[in-house]
Amino acid sequence: MSADTTDRPRVLISRRVFPQVIERLSASLTLDVHDSDEALSPAALRARLADCDGVFVATTERIDAALLDACPRLRAVCSMAVGYNNIDLPACTARGVLVSNAPDVLTETTADFGFALLLATARRVTESEHYLRAGRWRHWSVDLFAGQDVHGSTLGILGMGRIGQAVARRGVLGFGMQLIYHNRSRLPADTEAALGARWVDKDTLMAEADHLVIVVPYTPETHHLVGAAELSRMKPGATLVNIARGGVVDDAALAQALREGPLAAAGLDVFEGEPSVHPGLLAAANVVLTPHIASASLRTRMAMANLAADNLLAFFSGATPPTALNPEVLQHPR
Ligand code: GLV
Repeated sequence: MSADTTDRPRVLISRRVFPQVIERLSASLTLDVHDSDEALSPAALRARLADCDGVFVATTERIDAALLDACPRLRAVCSMAVGYNNIDLPACTARGVLVSNAPDVLTETTADFGFALLLATARRVTESEHYLRAGRWRHWSVDLFAGQDVHGSTLGILGMGRIGQAVARRGVLGFGMQLIYHNRSRLPADTEAALGARWVDKDTLMAEADHLVIVVPYTPETHHLVGAAELSRMKPGATLVNIARGGVVDDAALAQALREGPLAAAGLDVFEGEPSVHPGLLAAANVVLTPHIASASLRTRMAMANLAADNLLAFFSGATPPTALNPEVLQHPR
């Protein structure tokens, strides 16, 4: 005899995820699985969510006030991403909708990738590989793809949260870099001392970093935090890495800086309007471009998806979701 599942919570899985995670969730929830890498359109998302109690999302599904009003049954929005700029958190909280994200499990993996981009950018790894693959390598040359040193240089970090600090540790402990950073709040004095970190204002950061890594969350306040004015302050030969979000950097201004200087090169994992990429970036040789994969080790992506599942399962069993962003809504269950 099969169990009666009619009164189980109904949850939309808004994109393809690992079968093991689907299996865990389907043991106690009724699932509607959009088993595709193609994101649902806003209208399709609204239609699919109309009779759902919860949703599993990643970075692209927009959960805003209009959608929440159209889907009054929705009570939990659980994301497998750490960044939640696609979710209107105040609108969810105002309607008693629980939101969770996936912090911590991706910190070290994302920092590894930030450092991979930094090294590839400074030492011109992909640019020189394209040259070799194109059959253009004829002889050794004294300045062939001569780039910028990473070891012993000044690492600037814009946004010193968990991932920023993990990038900083790699730079300081592994590469003997000097560390400057800019963040709304300063690190505790002992953390600053352990890393030899110096807090500076944003203009000083732009002017003194040899290599700038951007790791701030994307909010209305950080939109185009790095634009033409900031880029013009950078040192000749400096490099920039963005593993935060598209929109934190003005990509048109960046494309121009890559053409005209003073920037030597950039490494970008995120883009304004991705998966579209600004044509000026695609045309530039001195930029390493990757398709939003900084957290993409298999183990970490599995951990992220499982954490979103943990949150859904906890919420619908009446427990406290482990990484709720607005646990206060649990005080007034709907
Ligand atoms: C990825 O970009 C994330 O926010 O987890």
